[in-house]
Amino acid sequence: MLSLSGMNQPRALPDLTGQNLGTVTLLHKIGEGSMGVVYRGFQNTLSRPVAVKVVFRQKLNKLFTSDRFRQEAEVVANLLHQNIITIFEYGEQAEFMYFVMQLVDGISLSQWLKQKKKHPLPKKRLPSLDDQIRVSEQVLEVLGFAHHEGVVHRDIKPENLLWIEKSRKVMVADFGLAAVYHTIYDEEKAFILGSPLYVSPEQARGDIVDGRADLFSFGCVLLELTLGFLPVKVERPERIFQTRAKESPDMFTGMAHDHSPAVPRIWSDFIARSLQPNRDKRFASADHMLAELRAIAPALRTQEAAGTPDAAAPFPLPYRGSGQGPDGQRPDGQRPDGQRPAEGG
Ligand SMILES: Nc1ncnc2c1ncn2[C@@H]1O[C@H](COP(=O)(O)OP(=O)(O)OP(=O)(O)O)[C@@H](O)[C@H]1O
Ligand SMILES: [Mg+2]
Repeated sequence: MLSLSGMNQPRALPDLTGQNLGTVTLLHKIGEGSMGVVYRGFQNTLSRPVAVKVVFRQKLNKLFTSDRFRQEAEVVANLLHQNIITIFEYGEQAEFMYFVMQLVDGISLSQWLKQKKKHPLPKKRLPSLDDQIRVSEQVLEVLGFAHHEGVVHRDIKPENLLWIEKSRKVMVADFGLAAVYHTIYDEEKAFILGSPLYVSPEQARGDIVDGRADLFSFGCVLLELTLGFLPVKVERPERIFQTRAKESPDMFTGMAHDHSPAVPRIWSDFIARSLQPNRDKRFASADHMLAELRAIAPALRTQEAAGTPDAAAPFPLPYRGSGQGPDGQRPDGQRPDGQRPAEGG
């Protein structure tokens, strides 16, 4: 049923450094994802730094039209929120489409976790509970706002959440894009897939999704922030999709408190509720989840400030390379830079 054969094999992408796209000169590469490359650029007309995401047509399923991309870009460009990366411009060339957007002076949550794991002090090898709460408040505000506007993100994952340390602010990237480039077409219907590790059961099945799919994906992110790894079995991406689609009890090897009793039970239970396989058992909406977060946050903060032993560092593993799990592996076979290996089969 679920075919990943529509995904294209990776080929070397052209380096566009130094080129001009419309009003912007591309300066250097910031990062690379499954479908394209993000550059730091300089917008000559307004003399400001910007980020430019270039999505190569060779990476996309042939059925995707530029129109589809432009429509999504339009939706996102109208989603104005202080925690959503603003899109300034959209353009097309023969080989690629590009988005000019606000440059965020931050790092993705996956890079943040990797940096933390290297900290010499075991207690600082994970985000503090206070930071996890701050991330949650901001992401849930964004999701509440977007869901009210009728937009589901569909690809909430650490790579799409950028953390600005100095202001302790989170910016959400790639709204709407997943709807375009993670869609796999088969004969009968289009499947919208997220990233295997963070995908909700209903999305893995190809059901019509609502905001609760984002709550599940964000629950996965929180679980990872809490433990420093995602407690899922090391498997091929297709297998992870299948396990999720079937709502198998093996979706996770346990919740936060099971893996680390130092994680406060109420925090673990809060995350677990967003990870209910049946969406009717999750929080009814991002607003409900945010209200619950605000209700439990004071007690959690008090507990952390009181210095509950190792509450902020439930699983202080020494850094062991780029992997996520205790064995240093990313269970979906993703490369540390967020790229996926060749798929199909
Ligand atoms: N506006 C931005 N400002 C600063 N850095 C950014 C911005 N947008 C993206 N990045 C960085 O570029 C990296 C690559 O982003 P990209 O969206 O291409 O890939 P991804 O999110 O890892 O995977 P996918 O292609 O599946 O979405 C991100 O992880 C992030 O660190
Ligand atoms: Mg992204």
